[in-house]
Amino acid sequence: MKITVFGIGYVGLVQAAVMAEVGHDVVCVDVDQGKVDRLKEGHIPIYEPGLTPLVKSNYEAGRVNFTTDAAMGIEHGEVIFIAVGTPPDEDGSADLKYVLAVAETIATHMQSHKIIINKSTVPVGTADKVSARVSETLVSSNKTFTYDVVSNPEFLKEGAAVNDCMRPDRIVIGTDSETAEKKLRQLYSPFNRNHDKIIVMDIRSAELTKYAANCMLATKISFMNEMSNLAEVFGADIENVRRGIGSDPRIGYQFIYPGCGYGGSCFPKDVQALARSASQAGYTAQILESVEAVNYKQKEKLFSYISRHFSGDLAGKTVALWGLSFKPNTDDMRESSSRVLMEALWAAGAKVKAYDPEAMEETQRIYGTRDELSLMGTKEAALEGADFLVICTEWQAFRAPDFDLIKEKLTYPLLFDGRNLFEPKLMMEYGLHYYAIGRGLSVKEQ
Ligand SMILES: NC(=O)c1ccc[n+]([C@@H]2O[C@H](COP(=O)([O-])OP(=O)(O)OC[C@H]3O[C@@H](n4cnc5c(N)ncnc54)[C@H](O)[C@@H]3O)[C@@H](O)[C@H]2O)c1
Repeated sequence: MKITVFGIGYVGLVQAAVMAEVGHDVVCVDVDQGKVDRLKEGHIPIYEPGLTPLVKSNYEAGRVNFTTDAAMGIEHGEVIFIAVGTPPDEDGSADLKYVLAVAETIATHMQSHKIIINKSTVPVGTADKVSARVSETLVSSNKTFTYDVVSNPEFLKEGAAVNDCMRPDRIVIGTDSETAEKKLRQLYSPFNRNHDKIIVMDIRSAELTKYAANCMLATKISFMNEMSNLAEVFGADIENVRRGIGSDPRIGYQFIYPGCGYGGSCFPKDVQALARSASQAGYTAQILESVEAVNYKQKEKLFSYISRHFSGDLAGKTVALWGLSFKPNTDDMRESSSRVLMEALWAAGAKVKAYDPEAMEETQRIYGTRDELSLMGTKEAALEGADFLVICTEWQAFRAPDFDLIKEKLTYPLLFDGRNLFEPKLMMEYGLHYYAIGRGLSVKEQ
């Protein structure tokens, strides 16, 4: 099938690559000429496990191509995906300007029937807006082509995106068109072999399903973070509580890890966007507003431990920081807890020596060269000359470090762990003063 994907980001590029891998003929269109040029030279702009060989082999085989030529892309695809960003507006609502710009571009260049698939995460009612924009543009240029607008939200997880797209756990299709449904069933049939994963529904329900999924996961995290704060208040250990509730199959172990807050390009903006669109519709989404507020405070947690430990005197301190990306296996720094921490440390007069297995280039791009940030080649190098260590991201490489070396290198034998990677008792045995999230009992024992 001939497919066009608008937006070569985490979603568009991965989707294009897996579609090409199963034999579809894919053209990717982006407005970023530099990104397109680099892709053609074999430079993959994001880190995602398994993505580089997949893109390269399909590009070499001619099954996927990259361009900024929208007209060519639109002529190519009978099915056109919109996978551009939907960043937060000033008030936190999803900004639809990129989505609607693509809708207008499609209408401007289309010369035959098109199925327009919205993969971006968009507020309920966006398909109607896309449809209206296409229709207005066609009318103004005296064209009468027919088209379908479908909602087909993406559920991939960064860090496992290729696998998620190759083996999706569900394929939600929001449409009222039988033709579009048939086409999408055909498009997705290579990914739908083991059992039927396709769930067809009306467009608005599909749009809301995506937000509901992300908001549920964010709610689990914020709930657990709230419990971790209560554990501190009451002198309990959240890790015991986590095991105690996770063992109930109705609750389960997934997504109940306490930590220094969730980040990334999805949870923060999607919780905010759904709460804002609820409020615009006259409904106060109390749970979502609390989820957002709890997370906001949780991201300040590590700094508050650090500041309290040093009675607010952080001027001139050097902090070793392990983990910059918002979660492991990605280089994505959007809304990362490490950024909140670093910015607070800098404002307090401290310097940061940071290491991340994949996000160093992205950190450099965001913060540039500055005195208060040194990007180090290894996690051990980040310890050199540092006063204490902070962990913000649970990369595998940080799970079994050389604790003797950590103690030896740091001025103070002090470790702030935003992801609860270690046992407080073990840290005590190594002679490290250990702060973790919601493990007040253990911290107090020291
Ligand atoms: N990142 C994720 O994990 C994830 C998961 C599921 C859904 N989503 C949703 O998918 C959408 C895309 O997210 P992303 O993380 O891939 O975004 P991204 O920022 O990584 O990529 C967006 C791309 O769109 C391009 N673009 C902007 N305007 C364009 C235009 N008019 N024509 C062509 N290209 C254009 C940008 O240059 C950029 O390359 C968002 O709505 C997001 O919420 C993201």
